[in-house]
Amino acid sequence: MDSDVFSGTFALVTGASSGLGEEFARQLAHRGCNLVLTGRSREKLETLAADLARINGVATRVVTADLAQPGGAKQLALIVDDLGVTIDHLVNNAGFGSAGTFAGSEATRQTDMVRVNVESAVCLAGHFLPGMLRRNRGGIINVGSTAAYQPTPYMATYGASKAFVVSFSAALSSELQGSDVRVLACCPGPVSTGFQAAAGMPEGSVLKVAKLEPNDVVQSTLEAYAAGRVVFVPGKVNAVQATLSKLLPRAVVVRAAKYTMRRLGRA
Ligand SMILES: NC(=O)c1ccc[n+]([C@@H]2O[C@H](COP(=O)([O-])OP(=O)(O)OC[C@H]3O[C@@H](n4cnc5c(N)ncnc54)[C@H](OP(=O)(O)O)[C@@H]3O)[C@@H](O)[C@H]2O)c1
Repeated sequence: MDSDVFSGTFALVTGASSGLGEEFARQLAHRGCNLVLTGRSREKLETLAADLARINGVATRVVTADLAQPGGAKQLALIVDDLGVTIDHLVNNAGFGSAGTFAGSEATRQTDMVRVNVESAVCLAGHFLPGMLRRNRGGIINVGSTAAYQPTPYMATYGASKAFVVSFSAALSSELQGSDVRVLACCPGPVSTGFQAAAGMPEGSVLKVAKLEPNDVVQSTLEAYAAGRVVFVPGKVNAVQATLSKLLPRAVVVRAAKYTMRRLGRA
């Protein structure tokens, strides 16, 4: 892969304290990319930042932020500005889901999800993209999901939030044509991280055949980003699912999603 895309640059990774975000941080550092790591878990972030600096000789900074708080993303952006580093790559990875009926869940959990999964990605893109365009380099990786491809009963807000991420990314990427700045929406299916537990999904409630490990998802996503892809679905099974969801009538797709969610015990 083209390691020059990352070597000697600076990336801001949200949700870097665990799962895919931690893996983005590890693989970017391995490619010589300096890092600003953010999340709420200060201790985990500081341990990771120290490890990556020691192992890879890159510069690392930690900024804690709660992106579910009103104004949390803007505050994060301003603190990053105060660090005096130039953000070349933004990885909008922080996010969470919540399994169950919408009516049966706490409304604040749903609105927090929109703030973390959607609003913070828009806010951080709005803050850092103009600088990327002025320098005519770098870009944004927005972490979506295969849940973006169909309305998702029993994870209604989550699916809708990821549909926003994919639509937003594709539109931005189109606006940026003619520049060297890239925007990629990465849409994983199930990945072995803390996501399922955080979403309240029971053990074994993901399709094993579709499940990937974080290192494979991140490696293929960084390759897709370096290659200038716009939307990327890691894994063959997930790519087929996303394609079918685009081709079949919406009513059929929603019924299939509902059936799957019930069978997997998420409802
Ligand atoms: N794992 C999957 O199956 C899967 C599939 C498709 C898409 N995704 C997407 O992948 C992304 C990463 O998730 P993951 O799988 O790595 O799950 P994870 O292990 O639970 O990690 C989620 C990350 O988001 C951060 N985060 C959550 N709420 C936050 C808040 N209020 N403020 C700031 N940061 C917050 C967490 O950091 P702190 O707790 O330190 O704040 C954590 O680092 C998410 O956008 C998720 O939707 C995951």
